[in-house]
Amino acid sequence: MIFMIFLSVFFLPFAHLETILREDWGGEYPARRAPMTTPVQYFVIHHTATGRCFNRRACSKIVRTIQNYHMKHRGWSDIGYNFLVGEDGNVYEGRGWRTVGAHAPGYNSKSIGLSFIGNFSSKKPNQKALTAAKELIRYAINHNKLKMNYKLIGHRQTKMTDCPGTALYKEISTWPNWVKRL
Ligand SMILES: *[C@@H]1O[C@H](CO)[C@@H](O)[C@H](O)[C@H]1NC(C)=O
Repeated sequence: MIFMIFLSVFFLPFAHLETILREDWGGEYPARRAPMTTPVQYFVIHHTATGRCFNRRACSKIVRTIQNYHMKHRGWSDIGYNFLVGEDGNVYEGRGWRTVGAHAPGYNSKSIGLSFIGNFSSKKPNQKALTAAKELIRYAINHNKLKMNYKLIGHRQTKMTDCPGTALYKEISTWPNWVKRL
């Protein structure tokens, strides 16, 4: 029993985080990658302001549409976010941990940007999505991608935008390490 506790305390922080990789959601390869220096100071929460999705197939389709929009219309090298999370409880890999994102000007090179798939202005994401996001944050800390004393913020704190939606913004403002002032 004691040994089991020891094992789980020792190994859990290094547990593998299941993410749906680019190959698996059917994404294009990035045109370029600007390497990011980690650990970063900020974790920025977004919403995609698209429809919601509750299974891998539907979420993958939305992620492909967003990538297409960011690459073809905005002319970016890749989907802007580092990660996305769906209400299927899956985390979808965007630029990942090693590449600077395009999601919050002024903060891109010092943050990880996570976007909840859906419009969360009037309703917050389901528990599956919230739990997956919290696990991603924990993974980032345990793997030295995010500083221990990181600052959690919503996109609207960096510029004039509704993102990540009022309901989701209220939710994250109750999470550990959320800061009112950057
Ligand atoms: C998100 O939903 C709100 C109402 O809940 C709406 O006013 C807003 O236009 C929506 N945003 C987008 C980008 O569709």
